[in-house]
Amino acid sequence: MKVLLLLLGSFTGSLVQAQTGVTHPISEECGPSVVCVNHYANVLPYHFFRNVSTMDAVTTFGDTTVANGTVLQDVKTADFIVYNKEKGLDILGSNPSYEYVFAVNDAVHEAPVYVASQNKLYLSQLAPPPGYLPQLVVDLNQDPPTLSEYLSDPPVYAPNGGTFHDGKIIWGASGGNRSIGGTEQRISLRTLDPETNKTTSLVNNYFGYYFNTIDDIAVHPKTGDIWFTDPQYSWFNDITDTPPQLPCASYRYNTSSGAVVVVDDSIGQPNGIAFTPDGSIVYISDTAAVSAPIDPKYGHPGSTFNTTHRRYVKPGPDILGRPER
Ligand SMILES: *[C@@H]1O[C@H](CO)[C@@H](O)[C@H](O)[C@H]1NC(C)=O
Ligand SMILES: *[C@@H]1O[C@H](CO)[C@@H](O)[C@H](O)[C@H]1NC(C)=O
Ligand SMILES: *[C@@H]1O[C@H](CO)[C@@H](O)[C@H](O)[C@H]1NC(C)=O
Ligand SMILES: *[C@@H]1O[C@H](CO)[C@@H](O)[C@H](O)[C@H]1NC(C)=O
Ligand SMILES: *[C@@H]1O[C@H](CO)[C@@H](O)[C@H](O)[C@H]1NC(C)=O
Ligand SMILES: *[C@@H]1O[C@H](CO)[C@@H](O)[C@H](O)[C@H]1NC(C)=O
Repeated sequence: MKVLLLLLGSFTGSLVQAQTGVTHPISEECGPSVVCVNHYANVLPYHFFRNVSTMDAVTTFGDTTVANGTVLQDVKTADFIVYNKEKGLDILGSNPSYEYVFAVNDAVHEAPVYVASQNKLYLSQLAPPPGYLPQLVVDLNQDPPTLSEYLSDPPVYAPNGGTFHDGKIIWGASGGNRSIGGTEQRISLRTLDPETNKTTSLVNNYFGYYFNTIDDIAVHPKTGDIWFTDPQYSWFNDITDTPPQLPCASYRYNTSSGAVVVVDDSIGQPNGIAFTPDGSIVYISDTAAVSAPIDPKYGHPGSTFNTTHRRYVKPGPDILGRPER
């Protein structure tokens, strides 16, 4: 009997041992509404579980339950979550806060472009209501800042990405049909001169084919080439009336020669794009986890989120420099 108890004892011991590696505390307050997650919470106590995110129910890391149902201390409710104390706390400073400024609709999250000469922020609306026109402008010269609707001349339908270059806003206009304000518009790169409100098309086709969406754009810091991503969301979300004619790809537009070149076609749904300051690495996010069928027989299906599909940032020209977050 004694022997048996001893055996049980050592068995329990090895079970506990299987749990070593948990960093204590897993998370802790390290500023006003700032929570630090220690060692990236690499080892969580059993039983832990995070339910998958769906379109209807989004979960975050803070929804993970640990140790048979305990919540991760404060992670869900913190305004700021820091994984890398050295970098994160330095960026946040000692008293970080955010301020609620304007009530906007659910789709005011695209193409923000700050025009320093005017001290104004231009941004897009990408869902009804009110739809894909007009855009919005925040006037930061006012105290408090004001938000108003903005229409360029001619109007640009559904900018999905934007950047400022050479005195102009460059927009990735992501929608198209034959009767937008009485005229035809197609997915295109457009410029807006914020002094005159005039817009001009730079590129609206690839050897005669319509682009699929033109999502985000970035200007190469050395060459001035305009790089842009072309996923397929505009068809899914009924912003264009023609199904995709081209694969998902990313392109480089040479403003002096006019040439448009495919730079990558390996990304599921290429979306955000950015360069390092020296232009040696381009980062493109792959949001393939949000996708849908493109076969016109399904109509415009909207898009759904599937956590098992790709959702990451792909750095080029190689993946060795992938940064920690
Ligand atoms: C996971 O979420 C789904 C709904 O998204 C829910 O039906 C299910 O009960 C959840 N599972 C657990 C274990 O919480
Ligand atoms: C979770 O419950 C199991 C079964 O009751 C137990 O063996 C385990 O030690 C518990 N884990 C924690 C961290 O309390
Ligand atoms: C084209 O888009 C405009 C703006 O959303 C819309 O009012 C119009 O009904 C669309 N026309 C067609 C033929 O889809
Ligand atoms: C451009 O649009 C803004 C906002 O609608 C307006 O205040 C401004 O006068 C316009 N500029 C010109 C040159 O028309
Ligand atoms: C862009 O076009 C210009 C003018 O034709 C040419 O000199 C330049 O090499 C091109 N850039 C690239 C990256 O090919
Ligand atoms: C997510 O994608 C996987 C792999 O393609 C598929 O088996 C699964 O059914 C999808 N889940 C949902 C909820 O659509």
